[in-house]
Amino acid sequence: MKVLSVKINDVLSYIGVNDRETRLFEQQWPLDRGVTYNSYIYVDKKTCLLDCVKVNRIESFVAKLQETLNGRDLDYIVAQHVEPDHSSALPLILSLYPQAKIVGNKKTFTFLENFYGISADNHIVVKEGDSLDLGDHRLTFYMTPMVHWPESMVSYDDRDGILFSQDIFGGFGALDGPIFDDEISRWHYHANETARYYVNIVGKYSAMAEKAMDKLGGLTINMICPTHGPIWRSHPDMIMGLYQRLARQEVSDGVCIAYGSMYGNTERMAEIAARALAANGVKNVRVFDVSKTHTSFIQTEMWLTRGMLLGSCTYNIALFPPMKNLISILDENRMKNHTLGIFGNYSWSGGAVKELKAFAEKQNFELLEPIVEAQSSPSAEDVEGLEALAKNMADNLRAHAEAGDNFSEEGEWK
Ligand code: FEO
Repeated sequence: MKVLSVKINDVLSYIGVNDRETRLFEQQWPLDRGVTYNSYIYVDKKTCLLDCVKVNRIESFVAKLQETLNGRDLDYIVAQHVEPDHSSALPLILSLYPQAKIVGNKKTFTFLENFYGISADNHIVVKEGDSLDLGDHRLTFYMTPMVHWPESMVSYDDRDGILFSQDIFGGFGALDGPIFDDEISRWHYHANETARYYVNIVGKYSAMAEKAMDKLGGLTINMICPTHGPIWRSHPDMIMGLYQRLARQEVSDGVCIAYGSMYGNTERMAEIAARALAANGVKNVRVFDVSKTHTSFIQTEMWLTRGMLLGSCTYNIALFPPMKNLISILDENRMKNHTLGIFGNYSWSGGAVKELKAFAEKQNFELLEPIVEAQSSPSAEDVEGLEALAKNMADNLRAHAEAGDNFSEEGEWK
């Protein structure tokens, strides 16, 4: 039976799987366009599997693995990253190939022991710069801690310049037939899903991601094989460029507005600010209702855009819960390079604006005046305040643009 493993070169095959069934990655991030769990196998003098998949796709994975091995035994399984989207199939693979040696670092085996009861005994513990000889090819291992977990490491085939990068350079989105970058005409779609993956899954560890990329920058990289998303065999520079931009939090011109509104009055404030931004020459304005749009989409847009306006109604003398959720995620992810404006609404007792101010004080953002707080519905004075806030935001963005601070999307991914 043909089971769709894909040859990358004479000894290396792609045996990853699509998952369009799981609704939420890590049970929290929407997967409307699915996700891949990529896995690769060398059939050299030795056979070597690089990473497994989430166990819900075990049947398809095993079929691809067996087809590729074509009756040979499995000698090695390199466990680059133990998060269960890449490791939960491992115990079953090990039961099929009990002679296979798992290759991982010290921390890998701590995780494997804790998750699956697999200890380092009878397996191979590697450290930075160690190599594994497969015959004509050799894999060298580099540690990339906290991208995305402490045990994360990558593997490099120095003969062909292939980097197996695990989560680094990965993205959301199933691979709908094309799996190589040069087979894909919809890079825009993959770029957006890659950015959403990076910002929400890896973003918090951006400093470590930059460090890892600096370390790997010294290698000659002809191809990147990540554990999610396309294989970059023609334009590895494209995905490296996008990841570097995301890790450095290089923002582009524009404003992202997120509002929480129960009966439309705070929404009206957001609309007034949005229109005033446009009237002041801001061309890139996006408005999100926090009750409707998942935070992963809002945060991604905010990560990429300098201007940020947050507006919330008051709920039980406090911030509206969906807005509270958004700002706790923004806070956790240590965003930078933003200019912030805030506004809110209350009817009998304040609360929302007070909490937004407290959030603003904790961030390293430029905070704009005025802060506008309406009572029940925006008054003429509140409208003037929102227009002044929008003008100040437009002036701020212009100043940054003139100073050359903004990331230019000309000819880039978006
Ligand atoms: Fe794709 Fe951190 O797992």
